[in-house]
Amino acid sequence: MMAAAAAAAASSGCPSTVRIAASVFYKAWQQQQQPAAGAAGLIRHCKSSCSSVVSSVVLLPLVPSDVSGACQIKQLASTVKKESTLERFSTTTTASLPLLLRNSERYVESPSEKEAWALLKDAVVTYCGEPVGTIAARDPSDPFPQNYDQVFLRDFIPSAIAFLIKGEHEIVRNFLVHTLQLQSWEKTVDCYSPGQGLMPASFKVLTVFRDGNEANGTEEILDPDFGEAAIGRVAPVDSGLWWIILLRAYAKCTGDTSLQERVDFQTGIKMILKVCLADGFDMFPTLLVTDGSCMIDRRMGIHGHPLEIQALFYQALRFARDMLVQEDGVAQDLKKLINSRLSALLFHIQEYYWLDLRKLNEIYRYKTEEYSYDAVNKFNIYPDQVSPWLFEWIPNKGGYFIGNLQPAHMDFRFFSLGNLWSICGSLATKTQAEDILELMEAKWDDLIGTMPLKICFPALAEDEWRIITGSDPKNTPWSYHNGGSWPTLMWQFSVACIKMGRLDLAQRAVEVAEKRLSRDRWPEYYDTRSGRFVGKQARLFQTWSIAGFLVAKLLLRNPEAASWLTCDEESNPVISCGLDMNPRRRRKFNPLSNSNLV
Ligand code: GLC
Repeated sequence: MMAAAAAAAASSGCPSTVRIAASVFYKAWQQQQQPAAGAAGLIRHCKSSCSSVVSSVVLLPLVPSDVSGACQIKQLASTVKKESTLERFSTTTTASLPLLLRNSERYVESPSEKEAWALLKDAVVTYCGEPVGTIAARDPSDPFPQNYDQVFLRDFIPSAIAFLIKGEHEIVRNFLVHTLQLQSWEKTVDCYSPGQGLMPASFKVLTVFRDGNEANGTEEILDPDFGEAAIGRVAPVDSGLWWIILLRAYAKCTGDTSLQERVDFQTGIKMILKVCLADGFDMFPTLLVTDGSCMIDRRMGIHGHPLEIQALFYQALRFARDMLVQEDGVAQDLKKLINSRLSALLFHIQEYYWLDLRKLNEIYRYKTEEYSYDAVNKFNIYPDQVSPWLFEWIPNKGGYFIGNLQPAHMDFRFFSLGNLWSICGSLATKTQAEDILELMEAKWDDLIGTMPLKICFPALAEDEWRIITGSDPKNTPWSYHNGGSWPTLMWQFSVACIKMGRLDLAQRAVEVAEKRLSRDRWPEYYDTRSGRFVGKQARLFQTWSIAGFLVAKLLLRNPEAASWLTCDEESNPVISCGLDMNPRRRRKFNPLSNSNLV
């Protein structure tokens, strides 16, 4: 009965652009049956078992204009969901009890934690009566919030992890479902529109007249921004990668893989992969992007192959490969593509982005203008390019991945997020991961100082600042993206530290932050070399500062949750040397020579 009602709603209530509706909640959901595809893009499935029929309707991605249709279906689906969710979670084992409940004995939350939870709750945004995300900032002193009144995908990740640890799964699930509905499906070159598969940077909930007519009353719609309205029109390449990472974390935490197995989610994953794995003119296995395509969403000289994107890309590829449903032929082809990209990417980053004292000395003595397949200095890096600060700064022990690598260009700045996420996703070898944390410890005053964590080090100043940022008044030296300190980064730091057994470092950073964050009203970022000042234009009550702190705290007492966000090193060794895969070279391959061995 319910399935019939759902199908009727799907076909009548939604415009033709609704591509597929799927029924997912099976009474015997462990049987993992696949919904059968029907005509006209509608997938319906109904399972009758014993005395009851249990079914539900969920939607595949909708184009933004179809959101009102989505809303109707969603309301119907949520009614059904309530029935079936009960059955479904009755099979839950104690292992999936909220971590907070399991690990709560004798723990007393600090006043800052209590305040952070209250603020996080206040930041929740609802759509059709359900929580779907958290607003970027709720600064009462800010009359012009610009887009800080929206739900940013990247900003929501720490909120989501906090909610998952607390056992509040619904908001995360809703977020995943609705952002999937917003995923871009069409590309129109003339309108600065996003490419197919792109996930928005942010979205807001708007209340509008139904069908544009006041007499019809109002309804809520989700309004995404893919960067078309963002300052500088930057493409949020990281959004889709974070979305995949969160989807995997959701399944790890809840033990519920049915969401990722849904047809609409499989399609969404494939679309993200398609846009990331598409052929272009690029020569490298790293992902080629424009400036400002990630957390640093302004001109900061990170166009090309920035580390942050590569670290997210690598982990998203690994998680996506695991989540793709095996039987699907497209999925199998994608998995092959992913596998070859993963090994090339791994080799490229571990070999060419890695910097320590030994490697710096090698670069210092590089010969240039080497034309050959066997060149040592493959990217034609001129030793004079090494900035003087680095000779002093590089410690005897420890190392890090540089920020970017392009022809004749190495960006030697230390970018925290890229390095930390390389640890989490095992883009770094175990030794490299240990070395990164060792460097962070050795350079504590520079990278943590009086507020964790520097977004990058050092700041661009003078001519470099003028040329690289375009004299950006927001990114002046040691401010904002240009060497500012971002409390939100504490959560990624904690995940990395836990993975490497360095809980002590995470603890130290959290203690530093806890002294100030609440007192300073949870700023977005801090300025000056040691992070002593609240950022010049920093929003207050910035949600991801609140959530970043909270997650760091939560992880310290629930370290097992870090595994939702990490993966171990691949068991297969790296088999290809990216630049040596030239076909002409392969033709010349001499099995007796060991020069092809990595
Ligand atoms: C700024 C940050 C960006 C963040 C957004 C919302 O634009 O650079 O990373 O997502 O604010 O907080």
